[in-house]
Amino acid sequence: MKNLSNKVILITGATKGIGAAIARNCIEEGAQVMITGLEEDLAKSLCTELGSQSSYQVGNLADSSFCTDVIQYTFDKFGKLDGLVNNAALIQRDTLDQFQPETFLEVMKVNVLAPLLLIKAATPFLENTRGSIVNIGSTNALCGEENQVSYSASKAALVNVTQTVANYFSLQRKGIRVNHLNVGWVLTEAEIERKVADGFPPGWQNNLPESDIPFGRMILPEDIAHQVVFWLSDKSFPATGAIVTVSQNPYKKKTRTSLG
Ligand SMILES: NC(=O)c1ccc[n+]([C@@H]2O[C@H](COP(=O)([O-])OP(=O)(O)OC[C@H]3O[C@@H](n4cnc5c(N)ncnc54)[C@H](O)[C@@H]3O)[C@@H](O)[C@H]2O)c1
Repeated sequence: MKNLSNKVILITGATKGIGAAIARNCIEEGAQVMITGLEEDLAKSLCTELGSQSSYQVGNLADSSFCTDVIQYTFDKFGKLDGLVNNAALIQRDTLDQFQPETFLEVMKVNVLAPLLLIKAATPFLENTRGSIVNIGSTNALCGEENQVSYSASKAALVNVTQTVANYFSLQRKGIRVNHLNVGWVLTEAEIERKVADGFPPGWQNNLPESDIPFGRMILPEDIAHQVVFWLSDKSFPATGAIVTVSQNPYKKKTRTSLG
C-alpha cells in the first residue's frame, strides 16, 4: 500500500521547484493531485508528465476569489479533498532601505492571507476526509535575513497561522491536522537565478563552502517532497501543530555573503 493511496491533494506553487517535486512524489505515492501556479505552460507540461491522475488550475493567489475557487475546482474534478499543501510564495528581496508598504502587503497577501483563505475554504471538505494540511515555511521565520524583510516577516506569520489553525481544529474536533516545515536552503532553478541576481557568480551552486553544505550537497526539492508526503500521510497521524525545521545548518546565522 502506498502512503497516499486514493488521496486527493491540492498543491499551490507546483508548476516548478519544490511544489513540482511534491506533486511528483504525491503521484508516486498513489495520490491524485491538483497543481496550481502562475505559469500555464509549466503546469500543462507537468500534468502531461504526471498523467491522468493530475490536473491544474492557473491563477494568482493574491486574488482572494482564486483561493476559494481553486478548492471548489479540486472537489469538482476529483470528488473530494484529503490534503492541502500551501507551498506557493512570493520570494521578495527587500532590505530595510528598500522596504515599501505596498510590496510588504503584496507579500503578506500571497504568503499569509492566501494560505488562510485556502484553509478556510478547504475546511468543510477536509473535515469529511479527516484531511491534512502542510504549510511550507522557511528558516527565515526563525532568524530573518537582511535582504528579505517582507518575506521573512510573512514566513514568521505563517508559523503562527499553523499553530492557531491547528489549535482551532483540535478544539473544534474537526479532525483536520495542520503541520509546518520551515525549510532551509533548497536548490531550485528559481533559487539559482535569485542568487545570481543577488550577486553570486554563475555556477555558485557548484562551489559552495562546507559551512553551507555540511552534509556535502544542498537540500534538493525531492528531499522536501519526502517530508511533505510523510506529513500528508496517515504515518504522521495524529500529530498536529508540529513546526519542523528542515535544514542542514539550522543554527547558522544568515548573511547575504555566506558564499565563500
Ligand atoms: N528554495 C529555497 O531555498 C527555499 C528556502 C526556504 C523556503 N522555501 C519555500 O519553499 C516554497 C517553494 O519555493 P521554491 O524555491 O520552490 O519556489 P519557486 O520560485 O521555484 O516556485 C514558486 C511557485 O509559486 C508560484 N507562485 C508564486 N507567486 C504566486 C502567486 N502570486 N500566485 C500563485 N502562485 C504563485 C509559482 O508559480 C511557482 O509555482 C516557498 O514557500 C518558499 O518560501 C524555499
